[in-house]
Amino acid sequence: MKRFEPIIIAFLCNWCSYEGADSAGRARKDILHNVKPIRVMCTGRTDPQFVLEAFRNRADGILILGCHPGSCHYKDGNIQTLKRYILLQKLLPQLGIRKDRLVLDWVSSGESEKFAAIIREMVETIRELGPLPG
Ligand code: FES
Repeated sequence: MKRFEPIIIAFLCNWCSYEGADSAGRARKDILHNVKPIRVMCTGRTDPQFVLEAFRNRADGILILGCHPGSCHYKDGNIQTLKRYILLQKLLPQLGIRKDRLVLDWVSSGESEKFAAIIREMVETIRELGPLPG
């Protein structure tokens, strides 16, 4: 039987997490197998509609990774994202989507190990949940 390979959309901040992904990818290419990265200039640019649209288009899980609090290049874009994330976590179950299919975390450009760990954990979680029910 073929193993379920989840599709995970990752919104990555250009200034930190995208770099972290880049270096993690260079070190161990296999971790990015399930991830479709979308580079954004700041996590604050990740409109909640993007998240809902990604789920509508069959993403099994969504990651939003940005600069650590206090390090956002646009002052507080990541804090705005945190507020939206909290709202999305309340909304998703109303749409029949488990909230653990959406993860927000902070990854700097030097944290390729952390990036890899988040990806592995997300892939494992989504494998256990199975495909997004449609
Ligand atoms: Fe990275 Fe805002 S610039 S989260």
